[in-house]
Amino acid sequence: MSQGEDATAAGVRNTVTMTDNRTGQSWEMPVMTGSLGPDVVDVRRFYAETGMFTYDPGFTSTSACESSITFIDGDEGVLLHRGYPIEQLAEQSDFMEVCYLLLNGELPSAEEKSNFEKGITYHTMLHEQLSYFYRGFRRDAHPMAIMVGIVGALSAFYHDSTDISDPQQRLVASYRLIAKMPTIAAMAYKFSVGQPFVYPRNDLKYAENFLYMLFSVPAEDYKVSPVLARAMDRIFILHADHEQNASTSTVRISGSSAANPFACIAAGIASLWGPAHGGANEAVLRMLHEIGHKNRIPEFILRAKDKDDPFRLMGFGHRVYKNYDPRATVLRKSCHEVLDEMGVEDPLLELAMELERIALEDDYFVDRKLFPNVDFYSGIILSAMGIPTSMFTVLFSLARTVGWVAQWTEMIEDPSQKISRPRQLYTGPKKREYVPMAERG
Ligand code: ACO
Repeated sequence: MSQGEDATAAGVRNTVTMTDNRTGQSWEMPVMTGSLGPDVVDVRRFYAETGMFTYDPGFTSTSACESSITFIDGDEGVLLHRGYPIEQLAEQSDFMEVCYLLLNGELPSAEEKSNFEKGITYHTMLHEQLSYFYRGFRRDAHPMAIMVGIVGALSAFYHDSTDISDPQQRLVASYRLIAKMPTIAAMAYKFSVGQPFVYPRNDLKYAENFLYMLFSVPAEDYKVSPVLARAMDRIFILHADHEQNASTSTVRISGSSAANPFACIAAGIASLWGPAHGGANEAVLRMLHEIGHKNRIPEFILRAKDKDDPFRLMGFGHRVYKNYDPRATVLRKSCHEVLDEMGVEDPLLELAMELERIALEDDYFVDRKLFPNVDFYSGIILSAMGIPTSMFTVLFSLARTVGWVAQWTEMIEDPSQKISRPRQLYTGPKKREYVPMAERG
C-alpha cells in the first residue's frame, strides 16, 4: 500500500494505492483526515472496486463512523470529551454539566445548565406499573439482568418517545434515559435486598439523589455525605463516554436498524455486562480477595504471564490505552479521599497499589504496555462506599447512558450512516447435496 496526493477540483485529496500482487492491478483509496488522531483509509468502495472484503475481527484497525464527541490517544493516555481533558472535567465540572457537554457539544451557560437539570429531574420517576415488572424477577437475579430487562421495557411504557424520526421525541427519550437510570438502578438494588423502593428526590443533585435512593429506608432519616456524593459524581464523569467501545458500538449497531432508543440502550447494557468490558471492576475485587496478601502477588503475576493459565490480571490492559488510563489516575486519588471520609484503612487498596507497582516493573507488562485501567481502582472506592459488588457494572451503565445516548443521537443525525452489516471470510463447507438420513454413513 503506498500513499499519494491527488489534485482534484475540490483541492488536494490524499489517497493510498493498494496493489494486488497476484495480478498487478492497483486501486486508489481516499484518505480522510480528522481533527485529531490517525488518518483513515476510506474503504467504502473497496468491495465494489476490488471484489474483496477487508478482514478486521474486533475492529482493531477499523473506524466505523465519524464522531465529534470523544477523542482518545491511547499511546499518550489522553481522553478528551468535546476537546476538554477528562482530568479537568473530573476536577472542575460535575456530571450534569458533562452530560450537557456530551449531548450538545459545548459547556452550558448557568441558565442552560439550570434548564437542563430541570429537564432531567422532571423525568426521574418511573412509571408506577414498572415496579410490578421488578417483582417478576427472582430475588437473586443479578442486577444487570434486571437493568437489561427494565430498560428494554421502557419502550413498552413511553410510546411518545420511540419515533426516532422526530427530533423532539429523540430528545425526550434521551432525557428520560439519563433521568431514570439512577431510579432503575437503585430499585434493582432495593429489590435484591428486599427493601422498599425509594422514590427520587428532585431537590437533590444527580449523584446525591442516587445514593439517597440506594441507601435510605423509610424508617430513618438519611443524609448523604457530601464527600461520597462528590466521589460518586466523579465516578459518573469518568465513565460517561469512551468513544467507540464494545457497548457503544453495540448501541450504534442496534440503532442503525432504526430500533427505538430504549431497546438500543438495553443492548448496550447487555454488552457492558461482560467481564472483558464493564464487568471488570467486579472481577478486580474478586481477584484482590483471591490474592489476599502482598506475599502472594508474585504467584499471581506468574499466573498472569503463563499462556497455559487463563488467569489475567483484571483491571490491567486496554484495547486502546497503551499508557496509564487517565481515568485510573483520577480514581487512584479519589480512593484515598473516600477511604479517609469513611475512616477505613482498606488492605485491598494497599494490595492493589503494591500489585500495580510490581506489575509496572515487570518486563511482561512493560513490553505489552499493560497499565491499570479505570476498573482497577473503581471497585475499591465503590466497595468502601458500601456498594455491593454486583452493583458495580450497574453504576457503570448508569454513567455510560449519556455517552450511549449522545453517540446514538449523533449516528441518527449523520446522513452517511447505514444499517451496520459486516461481511465475513467464509470457511465452512462448499455447496453440497442434502443426504437423506437413511443414506448417511
Ligand atoms: N493480564 C495478563 N496479560 C494480559 C492482560 C492482562 N490483564 N491483558 C492483555 N494481556 C496480554 C495478552 O495475553 C497478550 O499477550 P501476547 O501478545 O503474549 O499474546 C497481550 O497482552 C495483548 O492482549 P490482547 O488480549 O490481544 O489485547 P486486547 O486489546 O484484545 O484486550 C483487554 C484488551 C480485553 C482489556 C485485556 O487487556 C484484558 O482482558 N484485560 C483484563 C480485563 C479488564 O481489565 N478489562 C477492562 C477493560 S477497560 C473497560 O472495559 C472499561
